[in-house]
Amino acid sequence: MEISPKKTTGFNLDNYDLKIAEENPEKFWEKIASELYWFKKWEKVVEINYPFHKWFIGGKTNIVYNCLDRYMNTWRKNKVAIYWEGENYERKTLSYFDLYKEVNRLANALKNLGVKKGDRVVIYLPRIPEQIISMLAVAKIGAVHSVVYAGFSSQALRDRIMDADAKVIITADGYYYRGKVRKLKEIVDDAIKDLNINKVIVVERLGIDVDMKNGRDIYYNDAVKGMSYECKTEVMDSEDILFILYTSGTTGKPKGVVHVHGGYMVGVYATTKLILDVKDEDIYWCTADPGWITGHSYIVYGPLLNNATILFYEGAPDYPNIERWWELIERYRVTIFYTTPTALRYFKRFGEEPILKHDLSSLRLLGTVGEPINPEVWLWFYKTIGRENCPIVDTWWQTETGMHVVTTYPNMKMKPGYAGKGIFGIKADVADENGKILNPGEKGYLVIKNFFPALMRTIYKNEEKYKSYFRHGLYYAEDYAVKDEEGYIMILGRSDEVIKTSGYRLGTFEIESAILTHEAVAEAAVIGKPHEIKGEIIKAFVVLKEGYKPSEELKESIRKKVREVLGPIAVPAEIEFVDSLPKTRSGKIMRRVLKARELGLPLGDLSTLEED
Ligand code: PRX
Repeated sequence: MEISPKKTTGFNLDNYDLKIAEENPEKFWEKIASELYWFKKWEKVVEINYPFHKWFIGGKTNIVYNCLDRYMNTWRKNKVAIYWEGENYERKTLSYFDLYKEVNRLANALKNLGVKKGDRVVIYLPRIPEQIISMLAVAKIGAVHSVVYAGFSSQALRDRIMDADAKVIITADGYYYRGKVRKLKEIVDDAIKDLNINKVIVVERLGIDVDMKNGRDIYYNDAVKGMSYECKTEVMDSEDILFILYTSGTTGKPKGVVHVHGGYMVGVYATTKLILDVKDEDIYWCTADPGWITGHSYIVYGPLLNNATILFYEGAPDYPNIERWWELIERYRVTIFYTTPTALRYFKRFGEEPILKHDLSSLRLLGTVGEPINPEVWLWFYKTIGRENCPIVDTWWQTETGMHVVTTYPNMKMKPGYAGKGIFGIKADVADENGKILNPGEKGYLVIKNFFPALMRTIYKNEEKYKSYFRHGLYYAEDYAVKDEEGYIMILGRSDEVIKTSGYRLGTFEIESAILTHEAVAEAAVIGKPHEIKGEIIKAFVVLKEGYKPSEELKESIRKKVREVLGPIAVPAEIEFVDSLPKTRSGKIMRRVLKARELGLPLGDLSTLEED
């Protein structure tokens, strides 16, 4: 099925010659880069030392200068940067000038507490303005942020703090989610109990009593008290690290994906402007969390680089009822709405009535991200939410790519279920495991043939891991895909041991390790099982130690343990006790066999996929 947007012109991209991008991507990226501020211009656009790549060589900039400082001498400083709404309907509005001042105060406070250029700072905060302020303050002084999603628990947080070797953490006493209080500071205390941490800065979101360790812990308000509203922005090399964001892969240890000031800035600025088509008059809402890459790129950096006005909502989509999101769109007159297939599948269940009660006529462009979107859900999004007025961009990308890679441009023919094509001269295709490019209709692996500015630079302290993405001269995204005759790409899901549950990316090994911390568990294997709403749910197969008997209580106690160790998002929806797990001769658990059995697929078909 093909659908053309009603409107085909009037987009930001009308002002760009995309043929240049196709023929000479470097020229295109150079033009985009020149729309941003550089303390010193680059000498060379790109340098490739395969598979390593560098962009805007010799250029000096700072992404925060481009997000905030450069507006301060123009009317742009008075634009609303953030409309924030708390779960309990608290409201705050910050102009760019307000945001600039808050960022500067915290930046000065961080310096005062001893944070220097290159130091890693872990940010473990809910969706409150301080989360964005912290990211910008850290980057402003040239330090490196590593944001950890507040839905992760102590072990996950601890692993990330240790890998990044962070000495400063910014957190909160707690936050509200779906009406419940989640005590973050307690989780931090547990995570760092025997670590050498210099400072923990605590935002008082709830005003509840928390333990404050003398000399180490300091309240945010005390840290910024008396700090100047001005702070010099550190001059950074294009290739200096901006952030490390941990993501799950096939091993137990999360991978620290490294992004830098220059190339990442250019990539997210371009895609926010030309794919999400954000303009001055828009109210833009991305429902993600800055704890994940979508929030980094399309709540924080991309929109601020475009001087956009964003809506930032703290709470759950269905709290206090399933109309909350539609109320938000109506109240703020949201024009661009960027969300996930899981959320759409969830809302679709409740029918049209809760949506039709609200005036969503302000919407003009819709986007999805994170998982494949089923064509019927796509159509529902198009008709019920977009009232057939809005182009939909189904944006495929990853933590590693930093920015959109495969999608349609907003003026391009759309095909529900197909994300689109490589954008701005990025050559995305489908290949087999030997690097052979496949024909339309043949299923294979999604690959990218060329480099682009926002692609990660490395995996923190693990170059080998970075290199492992590149095989046969191609970047393997670890997704299955197929293309049609016109080159439109359909994403079929992960090809590795990563589970995508509600769009969250979790490694099977990580979850298994969490299950194994339970005293009754001898062995565990985890699979992703297709689910109507969440895309996949986590199913765990558990072998108990001698002396333990299967019971419902034991299942609950295992779930509780996973929640404590990794967080609520990693809790297995289903647990099955088994006597043994299928293994290869070398002792590797054959998760694919478990999956095939679970789904009633023929086992024979899987033999070739099995590595022995
Ligand atoms: O499997 C693909 C899926 O999400 C993976 C990347 O996950 P993460 O690094 O957490 O980043 C998510 C937000 C960019 C991909 O390997 N994915 C992402 N976008 C899409 C998608 N699958 C299908 N369609 C998409 N639009």
